[in-house]
Amino acid sequence: MENPLIEAPVPPVPQEVEPGGVGWLRAKVARFSRPEDHARRRALVLAELASMGSLRDKAFTLTRELQDGEVDRISWTVPVAVLSAELGLPDVSRDIATVSGSYHPQTEITDDAEEAMRRLIERCGGDVDERTAARIGLLVQACDATARLLGKALAAHRSGEDAESLLDRVLREDPPVRLTRRWVGGEVVEVDLSDRPFGAGPKRCPGEAQALRVAAGILDALLC
Ligand code: HEM
Repeated sequence: MENPLIEAPVPPVPQEVEPGGVGWLRAKVARFSRPEDHARRRALVLAELASMGSLRDKAFTLTRELQDGEVDRISWTVPVAVLSAELGLPDVSRDIATVSGSYHPQTEITDDAEEAMRRLIERCGGDVDERTAARIGLLVQACDATARLLGKALAAHRSGEDAESLLDRVLREDPPVRLTRRWVGGEVVEVDLSDRPFGAGPKRCPGEAQALRVAAGILDALLC
């Protein structure tokens, strides 16, 4: 049965923040938005995702080009490199990985993450607006979750198993995102996501299809 807590709002994040920093990103992305801002910001993400095509082939090709590289590095760079190319950006995977480490409100904001944000905003054209936050935010969301999904899939692979069956099995048996937080009665409540690997309700992951295509392309290249 669906846990009704998943429909509750997320814990609030500070809104009085310096424009363009990590605090600003947290304040402007759909992920940490209050219900009154959420639908509008989520629509910006959906619009960016809707125009992305052939992600599996592009991930396959880029992985083949980097084939001699460390597998862990491929998992952290290829998904974001492929998605950033689709957004018309250069490969911003390094800065996105840095911001990822400071993205969640319970983590500390490092100076490196603030610098990475400044570069990312410039690369996105310099506008400190909700669309820029949506574009950077979707890359940050993709980075950590897809890298961890790939790490688990590569460790769990059985000989002869294809990319789809492997991803399907890992998402059932060992999902990379097991926990999220909601705000109930003025308190933070943890919600178990183990049986809903992409979440549920209004804040469900909008990037599931794209994540699976990118991950399958990378696994096709690494496993065959
Ligand atoms: C292309 C890769 C991905 C993109 C672009 C992406 C994007 C996003 C975005 C923008 C959100 C916030 C949605 C909102 O608040 O309305 C989100 C939420 C979420 N994503 Fe993804 N994601 C990706 C990969 C993944 C992967 C691989 C997983 C795990 C298997 C995952 C699990 C989740 C979960 C569980 C949530 C919901 C969190 C919650 O309800 O609190 N995502 N994703």
